[in-house]
Amino acid sequence: MIYLDHAATTFPKPEEVYRGMDAFVRQAGANPGRGGHRLAQEAERMIDETRALVARLAGAARPERVVFGLNASDGLNMAIKGTLKSGDHVVTSVLEHNSINRPLERLERDGTIAVTRVAAGPDHRLDPDDVARALGPRTRLVALTHASNVTGTIQPVAEIGRRVRAHGALFLVDAAQSAGAVPIDMERQAIDLLAFTGHKGLYGPTGTGGLVVGERADVRPWREGGTGGDASRPLQPEEFPHRLEGGTPNVFGLAGLRAGLQWVLERGPETILAHERGLLRGLLLALKRPGAWDWYGADGILLDQQGEGRVGLVAFNARAADARAGAAPPQTIAAALDERFGIAVRPGLHCAPHAHRHLGTFPHGALRISVGALTRPEDLDAAAAALDRLAA
Ligand SMILES: Cc1ncc(COP(=O)(O)O)c(C=O)c1O
Repeated sequence: MIYLDHAATTFPKPEEVYRGMDAFVRQAGANPGRGGHRLAQEAERMIDETRALVARLAGAARPERVVFGLNASDGLNMAIKGTLKSGDHVVTSVLEHNSINRPLERLERDGTIAVTRVAAGPDHRLDPDDVARALGPRTRLVALTHASNVTGTIQPVAEIGRRVRAHGALFLVDAAQSAGAVPIDMERQAIDLLAFTGHKGLYGPTGTGGLVVGERADVRPWREGGTGGDASRPLQPEEFPHRLEGGTPNVFGLAGLRAGLQWVLERGPETILAHERGLLRGLLLALKRPGAWDWYGADGILLDQQGEGRVGLVAFNARAADARAGAAPPQTIAAALDERFGIAVRPGLHCAPHAHRHLGTFPHGALRISVGALTRPEDLDAAAAALDRLAA
C-alpha cells in the first residue's frame, strides 16, 4: 500500500516512536504523580519532558501551560468553550475544519455568541486587513487555522496576530496541519492559544494533542477530576496544567509523542516541509497528463515557486473532458486508486465544508494527496503513473 493520507494521520511513524512507546509501556507504565514511588515519578518526568518539547516547538515561554488532551479537537473545544461568554463576538474564516466550525456554530445557534466568517482570497489566503476589519467592540476571540487541510495554504498568522492583539482580543490558532512542518513562535506571532494534534506532523500516536495557553489567555476548567496532587481541594486547581487536565493522562501515547517530537526537532520542521514540497512538485512533474486534473491553483505554486506558502498536501479533481458528461467524482477515483493501484488518498469534504464551498467543490469535495517526512519520491511516481492511467 502506498499511503498518501498523512494529513489525516501520519503513517507509519518513525521507528523511534514505536520503540519509545514499547519501552515505556514495559518499563515505566505507572500513573504519573499519583504515588510517590519511582515509577510514578518517571511517568511524571516523561510527561514534563513532552510538555517542554511542545513548548520548544511552539515558541511558548512556559511548558506548564501546555495542556494535553486527546487531539486538536480537544484543544480547540477547550479554548472556544473555556474563553467565550454570552454576548461575545468571534471572528473565524471559511477555511476552518469542523473542529472550529461546529463548536462555534453550536454557540451561535444557542444565541450565546455572534460569528463573522472572513472569506479567503483567490490564492486561498486570508488578508490580515479583512480580519482586522471584522473585529468589533465585542470580539473576544479570533479562531483561525494556520494551514488549511484542504487548500494547503499557510495563513499569515503573525500579521493577523499583531492586529488581533492591538485590538485586545485573543488569537486562537489551529496548528493541526502546521505543527512539525511550519515554524511556530507564539511570542513572535502573537498567538494566545495554540491547538495542536500529536498524530500528524508531530509523528506521535492517535489520542495525543491539546492546547498551549499563552499568558494573556484564561481558560475555564472543562473536565474536572483528579490531578495526582492537592486532593484536599474541593475544586479543580487554578494552576496550569492541572486546571485543564482532570483524570489519568494518555501516558503511553505521550511516551510516543515525546519520541515523535524529538524526531521532528532533530530534523527541523523546515527540512521536513522542504522534503514534502519537493515530493508534491515531483508528482506534478511526473504526470504525463497534468491537464486532466484541476489543481485549484496549486500546480503553478508547486512547479514555479517550489511550493512556497504551502504545506505538504494538494487537493484536486478530475477535469471534465466533456462538460455535458461531467467528471468522475472524487470518491470514484479514490476507490480506483485504492483497489486497482493500492494507493491511499482521501476524497470528500475533509471535515471542512466551507473550504470546499470556497473552492467551488461542495458537496462532492475533492481528492487530497498528502505526504509526510517518510514518504519517498517513488511513492509519488507511482501515484502519477496511476493518475495518468485513470485519466487515459
Ligand atoms: C485543520 C485541522 N484542524 C483540526 C483537525 C482535527 O484534528 P484531530 O482529529 O486530531 O482532533 C484536523 C484534522 O484533520 C485538521 O486538519
